[in-house]
Amino acid sequence: MEHVTARVKALMDDLMARGVLTAEPWRQALYEVPRHLFVPSTGWACPDIEGGTSRTIDRNADPNGWWDAVYSDASIVLQADDGATDPATGKGMISSSISAPGVVVAFLELLNVGDHDRVLEIGTGSGWTAALLSWRVGEGNVTSIEVDEEVAAGAARNLKVAGYTPELIIGDGGEGWADGAPYDRVHVTCAVNRVPYAWVEQTRPGGVIVLPWSPGSPRGYRVRFEVLADGTAVGRVGGPALYMMLRSQRQEARWNPHHADAAERTTTQLDPRTIADAGPGADLAVIAQVPRLGSYAMPDDDGGLSLLLFEVDEADGSWAACDYTPGADEFEVSQYGDRRLWNEVEQAFLRWISWGRPGRERFGITLTRESQGIWLDSPDSGNTWT
Ligand SMILES: C[S@@+](CC[C@H](N)C(=O)[O-])C[C@H]1O[C@@H](n2cnc3c(N)ncnc32)[C@H](O)[C@@H]1O
Repeated sequence: MEHVTARVKALMDDLMARGVLTAEPWRQALYEVPRHLFVPSTGWACPDIEGGTSRTIDRNADPNGWWDAVYSDASIVLQADDGATDPATGKGMISSSISAPGVVVAFLELLNVGDHDRVLEIGTGSGWTAALLSWRVGEGNVTSIEVDEEVAAGAARNLKVAGYTPELIIGDGGEGWADGAPYDRVHVTCAVNRVPYAWVEQTRPGGVIVLPWSPGSPRGYRVRFEVLADGTAVGRVGGPALYMMLRSQRQEARWNPHHADAAERTTTQLDPRTIADAGPGADLAVIAQVPRLGSYAMPDDDGGLSLLLFEVDEADGSWAACDYTPGADEFEVSQYGDRRLWNEVEQAFLRWISWGRPGRERFGITLTRESQGIWLDSPDSGNTWT
C-alpha cells in the first residue's frame, strides 16, 4: 500500500529529525511491522508532543483522521478502566494502550538487542512491540506477558494478522516468566515504582532490563539496568517515559487532606513554584531523600499554584500543601500527620541546590533482592539512599 509507505517514511523522518530514531534496524522495522495492524478501528489518540490535542479516532467515520493518528507520534488508548469504559470516549483511567512510536523506538534502542537474543516483554498491549522484537530476533526468542485477558486476546489476533507468533502468556508480569529464563533482555512496557526482583533473577549476567520508572512524582523516566553476576542490577536514569503502572503497583493513595482542621499552618519564603519547575534533577534528588513521597503541582486559574505532597502507600498518611499566591511575600504551608512532608521536601530541594543542581543523568539505581537504592554519580559515591 503506497500511502502506508509514505506515512511510515514521514513518521520515520520526524523521529530521526528529533533524534529519537538513530539505529538502522528499527528504521527498517517500522516498514516491516506496520503499526496500523495493531490499532483498533476506534480509540483515543494522545499525541506525545507538547500542546498536542487528544481526540477520538474512528476508521469508518473518519479514515484520514484514523490513518493520521496511527502514523503520528501518538499513543492510542486500547482499554479504559480495565474494560469498563469505552476507550474512544477519552474518559476513565487508561489501562492499556499502544505506546507512541517515539517512546517505543527510544526503548528499543535502549534495549540494544543482538541477534538471537532471548527477550521477555512485560505488557503485551496491542502486540506491536512483541512483533517488532520478533522481526528483530526471531519469534521463537520472544515471550510476552499480558495481565488482561481481553487485551491479550486482541494482541494475539493482531500478531496473527501481522504474521508473528511469539510466545504469549496471560498472567502477572511482575513475576516474570521463569520457564523461559535466563533472558538476554527484559523489556518492560508498564511503569513501576519498585522493580520486581524476579526480572533481575531471570536475566543473565551482562543482560539488560529497560523499564519506565515512575517514582511517585508526575514525571516518569526510562531506566536501563545491567545485571551483574552477584544478582545485583545497576542502571542510570534516562529520558522521559510516562506509562500506566504495573497493575499491582497502581497508586492507591492520592493527595487527601484528611483532618484538615487539625493540620499545622506555617509559612515559608521558599516559593513552591521553584521546586515544581526545577526539572528532573531536582525531582530525583527529592525522591531519593524523601521516602515514599507522592507529589504533584496544581495550578489555579488566578496564577496561583499548590504543591501537594503525600505518602504514596497510605490513604490516610501524612500530607502537606504549600500554596503560591501571586504577589505574596510568604507562602502558606499546611501539614498533617506523623511526618512534616513540606519540611522534608524543602530541605531535600535546598540540599540539591547546594550540590550544584546535578541533572537527571547523574542519578542511578541499584537493585538487589533486598533493596532498591538511588545514588548520585556512582553506586559507591557515598551519596546513596534506599
Ligand atoms: C503501554 S501498554 C503496553 C504496550 C505494548 N507493549 C504495545 O506494544 O502495544 C501496558 C500494558 O501493560 C499491561 N500490564 C499492566 N500490568 C501488568 C502486569 N502485572 N503484567 C502484565 N501486563 C501488565 C497493561 O494491561 C497494558 O496492556
